[in-house]
Amino acid sequence: MSRLRVLILFGGKSVESEVSRISARTIAGALDPARYEAIPLAVGADGRFLPAAHSARLLAEAKVPERFLPPDAAAPESAAVVPAEIAPARADLVFPIIHGTSGEDGALQGFLEILGLPYVGAGVAASAVGMDKAIFKSLLRDAGIPVTRGVTVRGSEELPASPFPLPVFVKPVNGGSSVGVTKVKRPEDLGAAIDLALRYDDRALVEEGIDAREIECAVLGNDDPRASVPGEIIPGREFYDYDDKYRDENARFVVPADLPGEVAEKVRRLALAVFRAAGVSGMARVDFFVERGTNRVLVNEINTLPGFTAISMYPKLWEASGLPLPKLLDELIRLALERHARRARLSHEPPAGLL
Ligand SMILES: Nc1ncnc2c1ncn2[C@@H]1O[C@H](COP(=O)(O)OP(=O)(O)O)[C@@H](O)[C@H]1O
Ligand SMILES: [Mg+2]
Repeated sequence: MSRLRVLILFGGKSVESEVSRISARTIAGALDPARYEAIPLAVGADGRFLPAAHSARLLAEAKVPERFLPPDAAAPESAAVVPAEIAPARADLVFPIIHGTSGEDGALQGFLEILGLPYVGAGVAASAVGMDKAIFKSLLRDAGIPVTRGVTVRGSEELPASPFPLPVFVKPVNGGSSVGVTKVKRPEDLGAAIDLALRYDDRALVEEGIDAREIECAVLGNDDPRASVPGEIIPGREFYDYDDKYRDENARFVVPADLPGEVAEKVRRLALAVFRAAGVSGMARVDFFVERGTNRVLVNEINTLPGFTAISMYPKLWEASGLPLPKLLDELIRLALERHARRARLSHEPPAGLL
């Protein structure tokens, strides 16, 4: 039997491109070589695909600059908008592992739909919903799922005063890695926090601050998803900000989270409800706040392209739930092929009798 050719797309424009590269390397290393041929393909900081040879080199190197661009970016072969490797004749399936804008928001997924290639993870609409924190929140509210209250603004002048008691959290509607997120404790700091968030997006979200533990749950599946054991992130700083995520090494992960049984069950049930409400397929990590004192469970956000480094929460949660990384990858690939086959069978015919 011939091996399945899995094109691993990594890199990209976001600040998370280095995380993406390490995830891609972890995935390439964990795919069963008897069943899969891993083909790495990188996207540079300028958003363009890099030549295959350069992509392979980037994947193999231990350390490259955070926002990598190839030294040979101007080389003629990098000018191709779509490299040959991504053609349906050269790859059987795509594993996109590009975080943030263009990779996680549905744009890349739409491109793969047009190419007709099966791909791992959420489709176009669910990816877009997962990236847009304002749309995601209204969708959840509609489904009766508890979520932190928030107000969306396009300029700081729209909010002369905080809509919630302080502290509030201000963040870009489309964002990640805590970039542009501020905890506002004094009324006079609200405007500057909104202006900062608006440097990263055209809308800012002002949210009530929850004094809470941060709990994450991994979901896997298409129509019949299952939820992992929950895990806890204990930030090393006042909140889980960019430095805490990538610069310091003080944040701690506790897997499984030390939670009362009924709270852990509630988290898992809500994670599945969120997955369904957002129409996700394949995988997602759902992040929660469990309020101190009350154990009230609120959804914070969903991540349709979680990290896959050796220390990332998504694979760790599955490992702790009895699914080691190679098996998790098998399952994600199976789900991608299943979704693709089902969509290929959908009718595009007009209803009988119309013509
Ligand atoms: N409403 C909130 N209440 C308490 N902490 C929050 C709130 N919103 C964000 N935070 C803190 O900021 C971090 C980043 O915010 P988040 O909404 O998860 O954005 P990102 O998509 O950048 O991860 C969270 O992990 C948490 O530590
Ligand atoms: Mg987050």
